[in-house]
Amino acid sequence: MANQEMNKGLEFLRSRLEGARRLVVLTGAGISAESGVPTFRGKDGLWKQHRPMDLATPEAFQRDSRLVWEFYNWRRELLFPLKPNAAHEALVELEKRVPHFTLITQNIDGLHQVAGSGHVLELHGNIWWVRCTACGQTYEERTVPLPELPLCRLCDGLLRPNVVWFGEMLDSNVLGGAFEALETADVMLVIGTSGTVQPAASMGMAAKRAGAAVAEINLDPTPYTNIYDVGLAGKAGEIVPRLL
Ligand code: OAD
Repeated sequence: MANQEMNKGLEFLRSRLEGARRLVVLTGAGISAESGVPTFRGKDGLWKQHRPMDLATPEAFQRDSRLVWEFYNWRRELLFPLKPNAAHEALVELEKRVPHFTLITQNIDGLHQVAGSGHVLELHGNIWWVRCTACGQTYEERTVPLPELPLCRLCDGLLRPNVVWFGEMLDSNVLGGAFEALETADVMLVIGTSGTVQPAASMGMAAKRAGAAVAEINLDPTPYTNIYDVGLAGKAGEIVPRLL
């Protein structure tokens, strides 16, 4: 992206942020890329090497729980040592500067909370939480790796990762909170998401229709780059701190 274009976009966004009372941020895998988390659809993306239907659906878990847990144990091991990056940290700072801040994430890595973000709506759950398929209890479980088939500490039922799989409903409270924030947002930042998975993909447009200035920060163009008010092309870890 040309320097001049970037500066113009940043200037516009900073001026909007200055007067903003309600800021909403939507993040995807791209914000964690510079921490070392693989994205899903890039060149080396997770879904280029694995078929989501074999590993991230309730049917897959029913068919072969061991294989699904092997995949999630591998991901937990990979994520375990990783730290938030400058983009996660800049969002913590932005949160302090506006009266109302909502962070909506599709990420299950928990890095926003590690960075210190307070109000995070996790659309797709959290890989560090488990849910019992028998008693329904959910709890945080950071042991790495877990046994091949981990069991509930309360009832010995089979645990599953507390994430949302393809074909499953999103938590209605989380979703309700997200859309409520989108409807009243003054500014929205859409960071590091390819805009291919619903309902997150349409959230930027929902905020725009409701009157927010919407900006995208992404390494590559997405279907929304030219529709939003501003498109900033580059790495989240470099661009988000420049908003401060
Ligand atoms: P994707 O892998 O689809 O997209 C990642 C986006 O981040 C791409 O548009 C990249 O261009 C961009 N990107 C990569 N590195 C970046 C960087 N350093 N700075 C800024 N942008 C960067 O990931 P998501 O859009 O998050 O769902 O995927 C959405 C959902 O699809 C995930 O939550 C997951 C997946 O299937 C479930 O598992 C239910």
